[in-house]
This record gives sequence, C-alpha cells and structure tokens, in this order.
Amino acid sequence: MRAVLCREWGDPSVLAVEEVKGKAPAAGWVRISVRAAGINFADNLMVSGRYQFKTPFPFSPGFEASGVVAEVGEGVGSTAVGDRVMVALPHGGFAEEVLAPATSVFRIPEVMDFRSAAAFPVAYGTVHLALVHRARLQKGQILLVHGAGGNVGRASVEVGKRLGATVLATAGSARSLEVARGRGADHLLRYDSEDVRDRVLELTGGDGADVVFDPVGGDVFDASLRCVAWEGTVLVIGFAAGRIPQAPAWRLLLKSCAVIGVDWGGYLRREPETVRSATEEALRWYSEGFLDPTPEHVFPLEEAAEALEAQAARKLRGKAVLVNE
Ligand SMILES: NC(=O)c1ccc[n+]([C@@H]2O[C@H](COP(=O)([O-])OP(=O)(O)OC[C@H]3O[C@@H](n4cnc5c(N)ncnc54)[C@H](OP(=O)(O)O)[C@@H]3O)[C@@H](O)[C@H]2O)c1
Repeated sequence: MRAVLCREWGDPSVLAVEEVKGKAPAAGWVRISVRAAGINFADNLMVSGRYQFKTPFPFSPGFEASGVVAEVGEGVGSTAVGDRVMVALPHGGFAEEVLAPATSVFRIPEVMDFRSAAAFPVAYGTVHLALVHRARLQKGQILLVHGAGGNVGRASVEVGKRLGATVLATAGSARSLEVARGRGADHLLRYDSEDVRDRVLELTGGDGADVVFDPVGGDVFDASLRCVAWEGTVLVIGFAAGRIPQAPAWRLLLKSCAVIGVDWGGYLRREPETVRSATEEALRWYSEGFLDPTPEHVFPLEEAAEALEAQAARKLRGKAVLVNE
C-alpha cells in the first residue's frame, strides 16, 4: 500500500509518497482501507517537529480518516469487514490503509460521504469536548468563536447554534467570515481590522461573551480576557497565530472567570470513552441535520505536501481532506 511518509523534520516538502508493507490488525484492532483523510493544523506541527509529541521516523501524518473495514483482529465485535467507518488516530491517516483500535472507530451515517466523514472526528470531537464537556454551554448564552472560518472554528459555530447559543464569529478575512456565516453565525467580526473587545461588548450590551472558543491565541486571546462575561469561560484550543499567550491572574479574579484548556489528543489517549461519547452525540446531531462537515478543499493523497503547504500559507479556509480515488 502507498503512504505519505515523513522521514525528517521540516516543511511539508519533506513528505513523500512511498510503497510500504501493510500489516494485519492485532487483537482488538481493525485494518481500514482509507478513502479520505482530514487535514488539520497540527499535521504541519507534527511534520516540522513542533507537535507536543515527536513520533519516531518514518511516520505518516493524519489524525483522522474514513474508509471501509478491510480486516478485524481477534475479539472485535463492534465492527465488521465491509463497514463504512471513520476513525480518530494519533497519526497515520495519510495512507491507503490504517490500523486502529476498534474503540476509535465510528460507523458512518448512511447519508454521509467519505469526504465529510474524514472531516468529522477531530473538529466535532474537540468542539463537543470543549463546549459541552468542559464549558457546559447553555441555551441563550453568548458564544464567541475565534478563527471561525477554520476547521475547528466552523464546527464550533455549528455546535454553538445546535446548543442554542448566540454565536459571535471572528476571522481575519472576508472569505473566512463567509464560512462562518454559512455555518449559522449570528454576528461577524474581523480581528485583523476591528477592536474585538469593543465590538463584543457593544454586541452584548456590555456584558461580554459567556464562553469563548479560542483556537487562535496571541492578541485574540488577550482581547478575549477583556470581553469575557462575569463568571465566563475562555477555552484554550490552540495557537494558530503563533504566540502562546499568558493569562494574568488578576483578570481572572476580577471577572470570576475560568480559562480552561482542551486537548482532544490527550482525551483520546487518557479517556477514549469520553471522546467516543462526544463523537457519538455529534454524529446524532449530524443525522438530525444540524452539522455540515462537507470539506471546502479536496486534494489527492499524492498532493499531501501541497495541501499542507497551502494550509501553512493560510490559503485554505474551512476544512481540507486528502482522497484515495
Ligand atoms: N486542543 C485541541 O484538541 C485541538 C484540536 C484541533 C485543533 N487544535 C488547534 O486549533 C488551531 C486551529 O486548528 P485548525 O485545524 O482549525 O486550523 P485551521 O483550519 O488552519 O484554522 C486556523 C484558523 O486560525 C486563523 N489564524 C489566525 N492567525 C493565523 C495565523 N497566523 N496562521 C494561520 N491561521 C491563523 C485562520 O483564520 P483567518 O485566516 O481567517 O485569520 C484559520 O481559519 C491550531 O492551533 C490547532 O493546533 C486544537
């Protein structure tokens, strides 16, 4: 089978498609014939050696994929050969086949195609863990979503609307905001040209946002601490802007607010059952028509390096996937 391999740290040009030997699944594991794989910001971090873990060489990037179960290991009863599935992975999705524990595999709803399924586990899993498990977002609350035209951002807008929140969406370009608008955002803000704090306070009658979903960090995080509501919550999701911000303790005290980190990969390793129930509820919401994981960009597997380069250069919006066709 063919796989996109990383044999040294670097920019995406270090990636190459190579022929590798497929393996049989161990007990409790399954082998999946991959049809599509989701691209995430962290793929670039992993290839450049800046991810929280350094995976031994050679490895294939890819935190999520969709496909068909090709073989099941001993003791697997939850899924069978021929099932259409999506899978959450520590890495390895950029390949024609992947091995995974059956506990990380989810049946794809009948009406969902492989491309949308490959776009689902990381974004909707992370957002559900953040907004439901950690922030307990309530109907009628104000949700501020930063980077709302990106992968986790667009999913956060949709889940916020599903939970009955008023969603304020921020982004750095008109085309990013178009993605957020399409996902149901109530108000659109530009963090590159507007004062986020002033606009949020203006839109909320001075009260601020009850919950802030922040995959951007840097100046946007600083602004969030100045417009989060009394007893509000700022969810630390990532640092796409590049600067890891600091949270001055006095600001938390004066607002009686919380800053909460959420790490999907950490949940997958430590509490796979929590990821499972989060993903399953998100899949139910998909089946009820509330979520739209359709990717905005599709690249063939051979163009994984080009896709990651486009992502690093901020040329993409919404979600991108690789396909084996
Ligand atoms: N904690 C978790 O479990 C978890 C899970 C998934 C992702 N993440 C993190 O969340 C962040 C976003 O991930 P993603 O997959 O959603 O990425 P993405 O699709 O590339 O979205 C990132 C968004 O950040 C905005 N952005 C602002 N400044 C940027 C900059 N200097 N460079 C690039 N983008 C910038 C971009 O919007 P504009 O161009 O409109 O500004 C873009 O839409 C990453 O830090 C990722 O590691 C964390």
